[in-house]
Amino acid sequence: MTSEERAPAGIDPSVPSVARIYDYWLGGKDNFASDRAAAEKLLEFVPDAREMCRENRAFLTRTVSLLAGEGVDQFVDIGSGLPTQDNTHQVAQRVNPEAKVVYVDNDPIVLVHGRALLEDNPNTRVANGDLRKPEALLADPEVTEFIDFSRPVAVLLLSILHFVHDDDEAMAIMTEIRSKLAPGSYVVLTHAFAGEIGDDKLESVQEIYAKTAPGGLTARTRAQIASYFEGMEVVEPGIVPSEAWRPDVPWDVPVDFTKHSVLGVVARVR
Ligand SMILES: C[S@@+](CC[C@H](N)C(=O)[O-])C[C@H]1O[C@@H](n2cnc3c(N)ncnc32)[C@H](O)[C@@H]1O
Repeated sequence: MTSEERAPAGIDPSVPSVARIYDYWLGGKDNFASDRAAAEKLLEFVPDAREMCRENRAFLTRTVSLLAGEGVDQFVDIGSGLPTQDNTHQVAQRVNPEAKVVYVDNDPIVLVHGRALLEDNPNTRVANGDLRKPEALLADPEVTEFIDFSRPVAVLLLSILHFVHDDDEAMAIMTEIRSKLAPGSYVVLTHAFAGEIGDDKLESVQEIYAKTAPGGLTARTRAQIASYFEGMEVVEPGIVPSEAWRPDVPWDVPVDFTKHSVLGVVARVR
């Protein structure tokens, strides 16, 4: 039986999914021919997409370890994606075995795989939720019965907000999430940044992502990303390519904002 024939009911394997394209780039096996074709086509325009995904995951590992080490023991990972190496609960629970993690996604295959992986982990949950409905997502009993929003929480939004195309909607989502967080909470974001990639390439990328469920990918400027964190304390080194955010090995290359990248930010609620 091919992986396409094993697709859960309700999944059309001929339609590429952003979670499975990403899984393919990370070397995973939970993807279909349509995902691989879209991922390979994207590499023609963004040849370093695989490295950017790996850097995005390494940013997750560094930031979650840091926050768990600072005493944050509740994590909500929105748009968590297919399980891969060093998922949020593994990173957080290495530091604090009692740390609680809720994974939220709206892709049915992500939910099936996440639930299978986490069946035996009492400090981890998987919830079906849509970032575009942040109020409902944060009020879902799967989340609220597990996470105490009166105490500090880290909300992870890694490589998901750029799948919300309308700028006002993206801002409203960030504002809504921020409004639910107690002082000492954190928002951790990575977001596509176009640099000087050029309109032609961006359009080609858009055409490919247009066939996925979110209907496209919208890169944003540093100023737009900074506006999501007004009134919060942006942790050093600020809004930089994810690989330049407190790298494990000393980083002596000047940060290049002309190059396309995934920008990373960690901000604390005052
Ligand atoms: C590129 S993957 C990123 C996975 C992971 N956060 C990471 O950075 O490694 C984006 C994930 O966001 C999910 N996603 C996209 N739009 C979403 C939405 N509106 N609500 C919930 N999840 C969404 C996709 O299903 C996918 O799993």
